[in-house]
Amino acid sequence: MSTAERVVFEHVTKRYAGTGAGNSGAVEDLSLEIPAGKVCVLVGPSGCGKTTSLKMVNRLIEPTSGRILIGDTDVAKQDVIELRRGIGYVIQQVGLFPHQTVGENVATVPRLLGWDESRRRARAQELLELVGLDPATYADRYPAALSGGERQRVGVARALAADPPVLLMDEPFGAVDPIVRERLQNELLDLQERLAKTILFVTHDIDEAIKMGDLVAVLQVGGHLAQFGTPDEILANPASDFVARFVGADRGLKRLALARVDALQLMPPVTATTGDDAAEAHRRALADPFPYLLLLDPMRRPIGWIAPRDLPAGGVLDESLATAMSPFLRRRTTLKDALAMLVEAEVQAGIVVDGRGAAIGLVTAEMIFEWARESRPPDPAGAAQGAR
Ligand SMILES: Nc1ncnc2c1ncn2[C@@H]1O[C@H](COP(=O)(O)OP(=O)(O)O)[C@@H](O)[C@H]1O
Ligand SMILES: [Mg+2]
Repeated sequence: MSTAERVVFEHVTKRYAGTGAGNSGAVEDLSLEIPAGKVCVLVGPSGCGKTTSLKMVNRLIEPTSGRILIGDTDVAKQDVIELRRGIGYVIQQVGLFPHQTVGENVATVPRLLGWDESRRRARAQELLELVGLDPATYADRYPAALSGGERQRVGVARALAADPPVLLMDEPFGAVDPIVRERLQNELLDLQERLAKTILFVTHDIDEAIKMGDLVAVLQVGGHLAQFGTPDEILANPASDFVARFVGADRGLKRLALARVDALQLMPPVTATTGDDAAEAHRRALADPFPYLLLLDPMRRPIGWIAPRDLPAGGVLDESLATAMSPFLRRRTTLKDALAMLVEAEVQAGIVVDGRGAAIGLVTAEMIFEWARESRPPDPAGAAQGAR
């Protein structure tokens, strides 16, 4: 697999001939650097210059001023055919050739590169497998016989055929229904874990941007960069009213969907094991601000909660005393899912369990709210001062 390359926009401006009487262009003084192997999502309302920005990378459009580098090379100084072979390009209406089979479509670039027939077939098979399409079923079909989602996968396979270090994707999943779309998003993220390409991904959907991007560039009409940062930075500290409105009033909840239980300092529960002395357990439970006692089996797996009023003054603890349960969480559970479970829970504390099901700590809604208040990344502009 080839290595990925960084992509750099340096003061890039594009004014289309005939747009406005000298007023703002399609892209205005755009500067950003996308590190090699990262996904950068360009997001913003319709007409804010996303497609124009993307097409300047593979020179379907030439900038009015400024330059774009791939690695250290100015794309304007490269042969345009060579340049495009090093850049995969996926668009919404995939643009498959209708009279060619799926296999031939996928092998388009290898054919241009002069690979022989058997090598092309082998590469097409490998790529179809990569995007989750069984070559035996799909390689000899024609595009008309595919669903929208399948066509989109073929488009991705074709874009990856020459193993390009950079991939441009312009609203690639915009034309498929929401369920297929979510599956394609997840597949692309899985694929990216293995391929680590530099991907510029365009969407107008902020949720898709937050999900797909290592970095997100929010653009504003006129092609102005409103904010560039990680999804969490943008949700936690929107740089302007425009960004705040664009990410939505529920940005706090969206942040919770990005963070996981392992970001929290877990609360140690008061625990006891079946067979323990009841009076001693009672004393310990009452000494804790959260007076419920978590009863565990000898493997430290939770059996249930014993309410303070149910704790016997003497004797030993047994399973029948544990009358309430609460949701089990894993370290990988998102804080949003954790909160959703707590809203429904009988006891307001989620039990975090490890891979063997043993209890390792508790999470309460209050801890999640506290995280949301305390974990804001530093805000360079100081815009969030006094927000608490
Ligand atoms: N070929 C063109 N000629 C003139 N104006 C264009 C052309 N392509 C796009 N524009 C204008 O440039 C702006 C940015 O367009 P575009 O990059 O397609 O935005 P987006 O992809 O974010 O919707 C819009 O105002 C659009 O009308
Ligand atoms: Mg567009």
